Amino acid sequence: MKIYEIIFSPTGGTKKVADIISAGVGADSICIDLTDKDFDFASVAFGEEDVCIAALPSYGGRIPRIAGERLKQMKGNRARVISVTVYGNRAYDDTMLELQDVLSEAGFCPVAAIAAVAEHSIMHQFAAGRPDAEDRKELAGFADRIRREIQAGGLRNVPAVPGNRPYRTYGGVPMKPRSGRSCTKCKVCAAKCPVGAIPADMPMSTDHDRCITCMRCIKVCPQKNRSVSKVLVAAGAQKLKKACKDRKKNELFWG
Ligand SMILES: Cc1cc2nc3c(=O)[nH]c(=O)nc-3n(C[C@H](O)[C@H](O)[C@H](O)COP(=O)(O)O)c2cc1C
Repeated sequence: MKIYEIIFSPTGGTKKVADIISAGVGADSICIDLTDKDFDFASVAFGEEDVCIAALPSYGGRIPRIAGERLKQMKGNRARVISVTVYGNRAYDDTMLELQDVLSEAGFCPVAAIAAVAEHSIMHQFAAGRPDAEDRKELAGFADRIRREIQAGGLRNVPAVPGNRPYRTYGGVPMKPRSGRSCTKCKVCAAKCPVGAIPADMPMSTDHDRCITCMRCIKVCPQKNRSVSKVLVAAGAQKLKKACKDRKKNELFWG
């Protein structure tokens, strides 16, 4: 049995959660990075004995569309998959259901699902510092229960997860990262952008139609040169304040 982490984590929160879970399920996982726009996802085929951990962030209560497209190119071949939805303490709405549907369509067998909270990658005041010690303990506990269930030959049913079909509409967020004056044209942002929205020959510009506001370019810029409008972020935070107020719990579902 091999363990794979299949992750889309532009700013690292989803990866932190996936790493905690994979460490608890079994040592030495192999990582497949869904943000890598140059990778040939169609060349990936799993086997029935494999266990995968597929972890995606919630964007507007949906999975990031590009991550879903890349997942669907892979061949699940009935490998068991633990789907992990990571969100910034507002809500995940239809993300868990959509992720599970996409994984089934790609030929995986969803056997467990986890919703976990990580620091909001646009409005960092929400879920700041999460996953924290309490989350780590809880997520490690989920992983341990999953590991024991797998060892006992269980986990064969599709879990019932929250969400509705048709999924809610998501039209993106109105702010796009822009470049400041200290760009050195190192092109790290262009190389690391999951959707190719930053041209390598013009890294100071952003293709607004392609950009999914994942915040990767801001996170990786060595000069701290890229940013989004503080005014728009503050306005968004004001709108979400009430919904994000209470600490949301991590959740585990299985069939
Ligand atoms: C474009 C965008 C939309 C988001 N929408 C939601 C949302 O609807 N609900 C929520 O709770 N968090 C939302 N978040 C927060 C992310 O789900 C959360 O910060 C996640 O940990 C980001 O993953 P990453 O750190 O792996 O990039 C959103 C973040 C971004 C960038």
